[in-house]
Amino acid sequence: MKFFVDTANIEDIEKLIPTGFVDGVTTNPSLIAKQGADMAETIKNICSIVNGPVSAEVTATDFTKMLEEGEYLASLAKNVAVKVPLTIDGLKTCKSLREKGIMVNVTLCFSAAQALLAAKAGASFISPFVGRLDDIGEKGMDLIEDIVIMYENYAFETEVLVASIRTKQHVIDSAVIGAHVATLPPKVIYELYDHSLTDKGLKAFLDDWAKTGQSILPK
Ligand code: G3P
Repeated sequence: MKFFVDTANIEDIEKLIPTGFVDGVTTNPSLIAKQGADMAETIKNICSIVNGPVSAEVTATDFTKMLEEGEYLASLAKNVAVKVPLTIDGLKTCKSLREKGIMVNVTLCFSAAQALLAAKAGASFISPFVGRLDDIGEKGMDLIEDIVIMYENYAFETEVLVASIRTKQHVIDSAVIGAHVATLPPKVIYELYDHSLTDKGLKAFLDDWAKTGQSILPK
């Protein structure tokens, strides 16, 4: 499973890069707005420190302008994946950008029907928002399962990129189902490390080791 980091905060990304767990980054207009910095500069900076796909989202809603924005975003760096919303114009834009060899991440997906259309439009990635489905009492993970099955049935090359992840259980469930990518807020990545028994066990090891008076490195 690939881990993308779901943030536009360059410092948060820089801190995570040494872990080796940054296979890409996803941004959206809200995450960009949160940084209060120039969008193009932010995307270029992220692309300069991350080797994998970096999603940058169009904000136009009509095909002609979406295509123009998408080509501009793709020109910012070779690893930009253009994000388009799952609308008729968004999927038309997806088709056109893919025909130009540009990576496309189709976002704001909330149903299997939408995911089927995105794969048929040639999307590089589909972003189903599991947290927001949970928020309205649905089971976001059921959607992930349906999409993975559908895509396997027809050998679609579109990668399932689980988004709107709020908990480490979302990550585990996505991996068990077989999603290709999970895009994680930085805090969720750090939560993946945590287990009380690890802390307890390490403390016990170190306490016992201290009693020996020894050190690993020769004096
Ligand atoms: O990648 C999409 C993600 O940023 C949305 O997350 O928590 O606002 O639903 P959330």
